[in-house]
Amino acid sequence: MSKKIRLGILGGGGDSLIGVLHRVASSMFDRYEIVGGVFNPSFSENLAFSKKLGLDESRIYVDFETMIEEESKLEPEKRIEVVSVLTPNFLHYPMAKKLLENNFHVICEKPLTTTYEEALDLKKIQSSKNLVFAVTYTYTGYPMVRQMTKMISDGIIGKLQKVDAQYLQGWLNPVIHEKDKRNSTWRLDPEKSGISCCVGDIGTHAFNMVELVTGMKVKKVLADLNTLYEDNPMDIDANILIRFSSNMKGTIRSSQIATGEENNLRISVYGEKGALKWEQENPNYLYHLKDDQPLQVLKSGHGYNNTISLDGTKLPPGHPEGIFDSMGNIYKGVARAIKKETYSKQEFPSIEDGVRGMDFIEKTIESNSKGNVWVELNN
Ligand SMILES: NC(=O)c1ccc[n+]([C@@H]2O[C@H](COP(=O)([O-])OP(=O)(O)OC[C@H]3O[C@@H](n4cnc5c(N)ncnc54)[C@H](O)[C@@H]3O)[C@@H](O)[C@H]2O)c1
Repeated sequence: MSKKIRLGILGGGGDSLIGVLHRVASSMFDRYEIVGGVFNPSFSENLAFSKKLGLDESRIYVDFETMIEEESKLEPEKRIEVVSVLTPNFLHYPMAKKLLENNFHVICEKPLTTTYEEALDLKKIQSSKNLVFAVTYTYTGYPMVRQMTKMISDGIIGKLQKVDAQYLQGWLNPVIHEKDKRNSTWRLDPEKSGISCCVGDIGTHAFNMVELVTGMKVKKVLADLNTLYEDNPMDIDANILIRFSSNMKGTIRSSQIATGEENNLRISVYGEKGALKWEQENPNYLYHLKDDQPLQVLKSGHGYNNTISLDGTKLPPGHPEGIFDSMGNIYKGVARAIKKETYSKQEFPSIEDGVRGMDFIEKTIESNSKGNVWVELNN
């Protein structure tokens, strides 16, 4: 029998954006085998898609409750071990909760849940069961993000004094101006998305990146959000001031109406001895700025990078790797954790990161609705 980790998938059907990323990522290091799941709410679509993937029909289920019930009856060496939750946001909590309660490891898309309270509940169950739980802040798996994080923690740019993060997209611009078109995306429906669209969908990536690379926790936020139209209940643009301490402050700007922008996630961290800058659309380069020397550009795959960065590169330098590889690195870390092998916490974002993300979303919404005031996060 295969020694690969048996992976189940909820959501991520052929019609989805993120499904292919997880399927490819899971296959990248030969650690997982997709054995079943529920890819779509319609059983016939679900079956048709699983046929395309060549899966055993008996492991394709009508809904997640049935999947959990039936899989739990199987012998331990046959049963699904870890499940990826790739559905719209409102389903993350009920699915992840039931999975944890029935002893499955979980890989969950962000945002973790639709409320902070739900996120805390998942954290409680996960801790009591001691199961592996990853939240796929995809961009954290890039080798040059790992390099940046280690250089900062090694003190290469000195004491930190400013951070500037942005995640700019423009995809909502063709949708937002006509009421009918807005219904075409679940992301603008609070029932499915949660209390936030822009901050929940992409601001949370920038927030997670800020806390990861600085190694510091944001203490307070002050947000100015834009819904553009009064009859649109969801934020689609956000300018957020963040404060770590009185001497370390920064900004997170995220937008889905930055016309023409694609996935322009960028983070710049400034210290007293230098700065580091990384851009998602050009991910194999890391820029090192100093007061008295020319700009230095570090590239992935070279021996001068640190071990965890090099662990995330598969090919010799000059072979561009991208978002599939970044997610592949996250899956690799999760496989090591499931198999109880040695791994570093930095290899995949944890449920704590998911909980922090939910706190950030709720506090930015609170800050804005109270008239753009400072609101403290739960540290
Ligand atoms: N990490 C990232 O960079 C990233 C990028 C995009 C999306 N996401 C997240 O991934 C999740 C999905 O986003 P998407 O853009 O792929 O959405 P999508 O609408 O493109 O796809 C959702 C999929 O879930 C399926 N689905 C819906 N209800 C279901 C149910 N009850 N049971 C089983 N399957 C069901 C749909 O049929 C579809 O295949 C969201 O939480 C989103 O925030 C993360």
